[in-house]
Amino acid sequence: MTLVLAASGLYKFYHSGDEETAALRGVDLSLEAGSFTALMGPSGSGKSTLLACLAGLDDPDGGSVSVCGDIISRRPEPHRARLRARSIGMLMQNGNLLEHLSVTDNMRLQQLIAGKDSEKTRIDLLERLGLGHRAHALPSQLSGGESARAGLAVALSPAPALLICDEPTAEVDADAEQDIIGLLLQQSERGVAVLVATHSDLLAKATGTVIRLDDGKIMP
Ligand SMILES: Nc1ncnc2c1ncn2[C@@H]1O[C@H](COP(=O)(O)OP(=O)(O)OP(=O)(O)O)[C@@H](O)[C@H]1O
Ligand SMILES: [Mg+2]
Repeated sequence: MTLVLAASGLYKFYHSGDEETAALRGVDLSLEAGSFTALMGPSGSGKSTLLACLAGLDDPDGGSVSVCGDIISRRPEPHRARLRARSIGMLMQNGNLLEHLSVTDNMRLQQLIAGKDSEKTRIDLLERLGLGHRAHALPSQLSGGESARAGLAVALSPAPALLICDEPTAEVDADAEQDIIGLLLQQSERGVAVLVATHSDLLAKATGTVIRLDDGKIMP
């Protein structure tokens, strides 16, 4: 099996004034190609913090993260950005689209950053996500559910080895939730390592593994 992500001993602390929050307290996680994993846990348990550290958007205070064999943690931002562009698709809780570009141009930009440009991939993803008719819409013209799906289309545009999604179905209706679950499942079947933070039991049931985070630690 091919190891796509390996993280060990992750710690993350936030400081505001005299107060310190330990958001991650010694997290180990590895993901193989073709795996589909749900990250669950109460609000504030550290899910988004963990995903940001895994994707190299934030730096852990302790521990290390490697993606496709390259260490991404505690590296200069240009190095992290290169690894992210090459190997990671990331869907955040919000802010996934550039407001002045259409949906399809957001996808194309993400592909170009990764050194790829495939109109066929863009059309296939938009059709698959029920967004074919919204390809040329601006993000401000999309509904909440359409924005979530467009964000996913952007994350998948460069065909990443690792797909990290923070609550991908939080804002969508039941039909769109099924579409998103189907698409994530299809991506894992194609060999992508898929990790989703979610509060949805339906989504968690579709995955192969559920990891529970509580107060910054993975529960046994
Ligand atoms: N930028 C920040 N500054 C200070 N504290 C933060 C910051 N971001 C997160 N935290 C704190 O870190 C802890 C973990 O937050 P995180 O956002 O990772 O939780 P979560 O599991 O994603 O929650 P949710 O399910 O509500 O999205 C919480 O106690 C939160 O208040
Ligand atoms: Mg969160």
